[in-house]
Parts: sequence; C-alpha cells; structure tokens
Amino acid sequence: MKNVKGTKDILPDESPLWQRLESTFRTMPALFGYKEIRTPIFESTDLFKRGVGEGTDIVGKEMYSFSKSEDGESLTLRPELTASVARAVMQYNLIRHYPTLRLWYYGPCFRYEQPQQGRQRQFHQIGAECMGTTNPEADAEVIILANSILKNCDIADYKLNINSIGDTETRAVYKKVLVDFLNDNLSKLSEDAQKRLVTNPLRTLDSKDTRDREVVKNAPSILDYLNSESKEKFEQLQSLLTASGVSFEINSRLVRGLDYYSNTVFEFITDKLGSQDALGGGGRYDNLTALLGGNPIPGVGFALGVERLILLAQQNEQPAEAKAQVMIVSEQSFNGIVFRVANMLRAQGISVVTDLQQRSFKSQFKDADKSGVKSVVVIGENEAAQQEVTIKNMVTGAQHENVAYANIVTVLQEIPNG
Ligand code: HAM
Repeated sequence: MKNVKGTKDILPDESPLWQRLESTFRTMPALFGYKEIRTPIFESTDLFKRGVGEGTDIVGKEMYSFSKSEDGESLTLRPELTASVARAVMQYNLIRHYPTLRLWYYGPCFRYEQPQQGRQRQFHQIGAECMGTTNPEADAEVIILANSILKNCDIADYKLNINSIGDTETRAVYKKVLVDFLNDNLSKLSEDAQKRLVTNPLRTLDSKDTRDREVVKNAPSILDYLNSESKEKFEQLQSLLTASGVSFEINSRLVRGLDYYSNTVFEFITDKLGSQDALGGGGRYDNLTALLGGNPIPGVGFALGVERLILLAQQNEQPAEAKAQVMIVSEQSFNGIVFRVANMLRAQGISVVTDLQQRSFKSQFKDADKSGVKSVVVIGENEAAQQEVTIKNMVTGAQHENVAYANIVTVLQEIPNG
C-alpha cells in the first residue's frame, strides 16, 4: 500500500524542520496578540459555497465533498480556514468580547488539484485573521505578521505584491469597463477566460495562461477606478507598510481566486519554486459574514502554504537529526533499575534512550557511536548491585566510575552537550 496521490508522509528526518517552523507559527502571532483558534477539518459544504464562492476554482473543481450525516447534508474537507473562522466568530459571537478580534490557526487543508512540487491535495496553512475593523491599520498588521513569520522561518527569497480591488461600488464600475475591454479582445483570450467573462471577469487579470497575460497587459487598471474611500485606504496601507520597513510592489493585476475579497489583496511570491510561486496570500473580506447570513463583521487576514515554506527552508539548510542526549547501555534491565535511572534523568529534562532488546555491550556501544550521542551511562552487574553507574564521555573516551544516582546529572552536565 502507498499513500494517496497528492498527500505526503512527513518522515522522522523531516520532522525537526517542521517543528522548527511550527514553533515560529506559535510564537510570532502571540507576539502580535493573536490567539489560536482550532476549527473542525470538515464543515458543511454550504459554508464554502457561500463564503469562498460558487464561481471559484476551489468550489467549482477542488472540494472533497461527501455526505455521511443523518440528514444527507453535504460535508466538505476544508479547502481553507477563513470561512470556518468567520463561521465560528458568528456562532459564538466572539466579537462581543473583543472589539478587535485577533485569531491565528494552523492545520491541514484539502484541495483536489493536480499535484506537483509545492502543490498537494492535503497541505497545511498557517494563517491569521483580524476582525472587527475596516481600518487599514489592521491590513498593515496582518501583512507585517505574515512577513515576520516568513523572516523568522529564515525565508528570504520572496516579494510582497499588494493591490486594491476596491469596494463593491468600485468593482461594479470597473467590471463593466473590463468586460468591454475583454470583449474587444475575445478571440485572443483562453477558453477559460471567455467562459469567465460572465461569471468572474476579474480573474482573467491574474490568469496564468500566456494568451490572457498578453491581452491583460493593456487592460485598464482597477487602481484608476477606485472611489475616494478605497483609494485613501490603499494609500494609508502603503504608508504604514513603508513606515514599518516592509517592502512591497503594487501589482494592479492581482485579484486572487476567492470571492470574499474587497479592497486590499496581497500575495507573497517567490521565484524559487517554479510555477507554484505563491508562498501565501490574503486580503480584506468585509462582506464575508454577511454572505454567510450574519451581521457584517469586517475582517482581513492571510494564509501561508507550509509545504512551500518547508521547500524553501530545505533549500537553505540540511535536516538536523533529533538525537537523544544520553544512551543507557545495559545488557539487562536489572528489575527495572535501567528504567528507574532513565526516568530520573528524563524528569530533569535530559533525553534518554535505552536498549530494549538486551543486546551485547558491544553492539549497544556501536549504536551509541553511530547516533552521535555525547554520553553513555553504563549499568552492568556490578553497577546495578552497588546502585551506581559508570558514565562514558563519547567524545574524549574519559570514564567516570562509581557515580551515585544522585550525582549522575551533575557529571553529565560537566560533559559538553551532555
Ligand atoms: P489561498 O491563496 O487560496 O488563500 O491559499 C493560501 C496559500 O496556501 C497559498 O498561497 C499557497 O501557499 C497555499 N496553498 C494553496 N493551495 C495549495 C495546495 N494545493 N498545495 C500546497 N499549498 C497550497 C486562502 O486560503 C485564504 N483563506 C487566505 C486568507 C486568509 N485570506 C484572508 N484570510
């Protein structure tokens, strides 16, 4: 049997890198006052249809949906978490407790896409949502947080693209202008773009198809159609980012593939991962809770693709092997003495492995050499009888004999990295 296409096993050698990144995912949002939220991995299909949008690739082609509930309700493995977070915020009225609600999350998502480097069917996102205000300060804050996470994961090769797709009023005006322009160039567009002309013409702006790219080069820019409020917000966001030392480029073709966005959208792009160039993205979604049938709660947030961060981090460093600090070498367990000593050391925060197969001293020492452990605690027949151990410094070969249990930790601490 093999793992399913588009999924990946994270093997023991790879886990240390995941854990290093995951510790940044926990500490960085906390530094910004964000609290963790964990929502279920599956939700009602309707949540994503209404939230992410029926016309999007995610809802149209990529959802893992099934029905296993008593009433035949369709369920879906979450393709993203923003809709789930918005649902939970409404359900528990979380905004009541905090006028500005700052939340972060980390976990697996599922999209039925053609797998390739950096694109899987099960992947992970780290993300954050700031809800309760329409002010551009919140947009700047989430962008700065995403940027800090990337920097703290030692990821350097990326650029930040930002854009404003305006509010509903702006988009209504711009859509007409864009559709006219696209209609004038209809025969030059991809089949997909031609189909989208009615459902979602804006998406043609960031189509990856070379035919569409050629056409949209000359398309009118949405930035020329922003109404005064949207324009002012976008300018404020830029000056806040500049003041915070976050470099960015304005890309007026960036629209992103989810329907809930308005005003700010942004993406972190790299040229180090081939065609899957988005490390993460996000934007403002002031209409999302209303789309889900609740009161309008403005929000802005981002999600980073963890597999893509791992791929970049792997290019920069060799995987570090997680190794124990101490190995206990003993040919038998002496009625639990070996376990007692091991547990005593673990209680002091020292990682310890013991032999579980009663192998010879020789083969256990071979293991110790191979594993690179710095100290070995030897418990032979004599040591067990006298309630003592012998400690061997594996780097210098020096031995400390007749060490009483109470002194083991002190001796180990004298051995560098022991
Ligand atoms: P998204 O752009 O659909 O946005 O996904 C965010 C990131 O998840 C992508 O930039 C990419 O790094 C990663 N990603 C997406 N699909 C895959 C895949 N099949 N395999 C590997 N990585 C993938 C969202 O999901 C929004 N919820 C972000 C957001 C939060 N907007 C506001 N708040």
